[in-house]
Amino acid sequence: MNSPATVPLGRTNILISPLGIGTWAWGDRFFWNYGRDYHADDVRSAFATAVAEGITFFDTAEVYGMGRAERFLGEMVAQSEQPVVIATKFFPFPWRLRRAAMRRALKLSLKRLGLESVDLYQIHFPWPPRSTDFWVSALGELVAEGLVRAAGVSNYNAEQMRRAHALLQTKGVPLASNQVHYSLLHRAPERNGVLNACRELGITLIAYSPLEMGLLTGKYTPENPPGGVRNRRYSRAYLARIRPLIGLLREIGQAHGGKTPAQVALNWAICKGTVPIPGAKNARQAQSNAGALGWRLSDDEIAALDAASEPLQRP
Ligand SMILES: NC(=O)c1ccc[n+]([C@@H]2O[C@H](COP(=O)([O-])OP(=O)(O)OC[C@H]3O[C@@H](n4cnc5c(N)ncnc54)[C@H](OP(=O)(O)O)[C@@H]3O)[C@@H](O)[C@H]2O)c1
Repeated sequence: MNSPATVPLGRTNILISPLGIGTWAWGDRFFWNYGRDYHADDVRSAFATAVAEGITFFDTAEVYGMGRAERFLGEMVAQSEQPVVIATKFFPFPWRLRRAAMRRALKLSLKRLGLESVDLYQIHFPWPPRSTDFWVSALGELVAEGLVRAAGVSNYNAEQMRRAHALLQTKGVPLASNQVHYSLLHRAPERNGVLNACRELGITLIAYSPLEMGLLTGKYTPENPPGGVRNRRYSRAYLARIRPLIGLLREIGQAHGGKTPAQVALNWAICKGTVPIPGAKNARQAQSNAGALGWRLSDDEIAALDAASEPLQRP
């Protein structure tokens, strides 16, 4: 069975591609080495290639590259003939204490994006000092005002998400999505109730770091570990431990006409009912990630991947 060309974003009338592109790396010098390993032209061609391949959903945030990712998107959306769906995020910095802070942050995001309104606005983290209710209710007002088409949250646990859903419901606004870390190597949402609650309430689980920051591509090994911050995050011993899983991803990919480990890992996330948003720094990565669409793993293959990844789970 093929994947559909679009899927609804939660219980809204917004349609998105079953896989999006994450833009954290678009302009981020600290974590992703923007400006050294890749440049503005790479980012622009990642966007153009993704759109040409039918990927129309882009995830960004005000904090990515300190506004650079939103500016890149704004520039490219203005030039693109293809309509795209843009998701951005509000960061609850501890000095943001009034509701008006969210409206101001959104206005600045819209300016960088060159948009009058945004398709999906997400609360980046459920962090104090303000309660989740406080920001969720402010978000509901921005939907009512027409500045935001759909309301989303990120990094919310099942209880926080249910509460946000209930609160928005009183305003007649559906909670469209919860964006959380979900990959073969981090299947916590299957165990902590988030995935089940999303299914029950019709909320889209947007899966971030679905390639486990590149590990599931199979290109990183104990002999060739990733550099920078990822080098400390993923030990050589762990890179050795995931080898059998990478082997299985490769084997399954072969049975699907030569799909890569990354494409199989992304298809697995889609088959679980989530919308993965792999980061792509250049055209080649965008093209490759688009190859996760248009086909599906069998139930037996999903079960085999579940079993092989079980002992490799990261906290
Ligand atoms: N809400 C949140 O708190 C949160 C947190 C994290 C991420 N996110 C979102 O999720 C998106 C994706 O997560 P992520 O960037 O952390 O991790 P990811 O998607 O698992 O990995 C992305 C990285 O993997 C490598 N890669 C991607 N596609 C590849 C391909 N086809 N072939 C080879 N290498 C490939 C690239 O890095 P290298 O080439 O350097 O290996 C790329 O930057 C972000 O961009 C962001 O939009 C949200």
